[in-house]
Amino acid sequence: METHLERNLGLELVRVTEASALAAGRWMGLGSREGAGRAATEAVIRTLRTVSMAGVIVVGEETRIGVHSPVDTNQPVGNGQGPEMDVVVDPIDGTTLLVQGRSGAISVVGAAPRGSMWAPAPAAYMEKIVVDRDVAPALVPECLDAPAAWTLALVARIKKKEVRDLVVFVLDRPRHRHLIEEIRAAGARVALRTDGDIAGAILAALPGTSIDLLLGIGGVAEGVTAACAVRALGGCMLGRLAPQSPEERAAVAAAGLDLDRILTCKEIVRSDEIFFAATGIADGPLLDGVRYQSGRASTHSLVLRGETGTLRRIYAEHNISD
Ligand code: FBP
Repeated sequence: METHLERNLGLELVRVTEASALAAGRWMGLGSREGAGRAATEAVIRTLRTVSMAGVIVVGEETRIGVHSPVDTNQPVGNGQGPEMDVVVDPIDGTTLLVQGRSGAISVVGAAPRGSMWAPAPAAYMEKIVVDRDVAPALVPECLDAPAAWTLALVARIKKKEVRDLVVFVLDRPRHRHLIEEIRAAGARVALRTDGDIAGAILAALPGTSIDLLLGIGGVAEGVTAACAVRALGGCMLGRLAPQSPEERAAVAAAGLDLDRILTCKEIVRSDEIFFAATGIADGPLLDGVRYQSGRASTHSLVLRGETGTLRRIYAEHNISD
């Protein structure tokens, strides 16, 4: 009898992110966040129904974006049969990038056995540090509170680089003004991006990319999703809740969540049996975007399996003629 240990669910989940990217890619540059989000979410739900698993969304984006969707927290996904799984899904990470016709939007899904993923609803925001597998053993919880210069010196030493060689992915937000000043004062360079910290985390966790580490505050759903990829890649992520409004702080306190707790990606996803897939929607540093031509379309995806550490890059050509 097949156990899900023998099955690479990632190879099924990549069909979900491909379908989402194929649907979302049509909305590139059209200015409608709603239209793009709806098209991608419908594709995700439709294709997830073909995947044999009893999945539950562990953390959705609704608390942060204030909009409900079929991939909100606690929604069932999959066909209801097969292994019980925790699931995180972001039909489009970087919606604004996409609808403005800019680069870097991706579609992502992560899954791990039921009960293994951190589910800090109703939290919306968290702090994150992400590094690759070489730096991972040296990343200590103190890095989250240490001056950026200290963490940068540590990363530079392990990567055998100078601090000025490092590039740090940071979301371009007012809340990061001091962090950006600190990084620049330490002599490192900043890759300021308006959106997309899941791709930023994967770039930071993949050895040999243009990004050395990720620092800053982003969405919790994106953080748990990124943790799936970072753990599967053998990198390290540190995370801690970081409410951004008095209302969020009160909701987090009322839920009894610990604001001081620092988690590693092994605590955010407490299993090696992680399956993760991402597909590019518009061209970016991590993945190529969807190309459409004469009833056909091509996609570029990444599939990760935590248990074996396998990373697959899949280029697919789809017949999309009606
Ligand atoms: P969306 O695609 O849902 O708009 O998210 C994009 C994103 O940049 C995430 O990558 C990131 O975690 C989050 O938004 C940051 O939230 P905010 O825009 O509220 O600062």
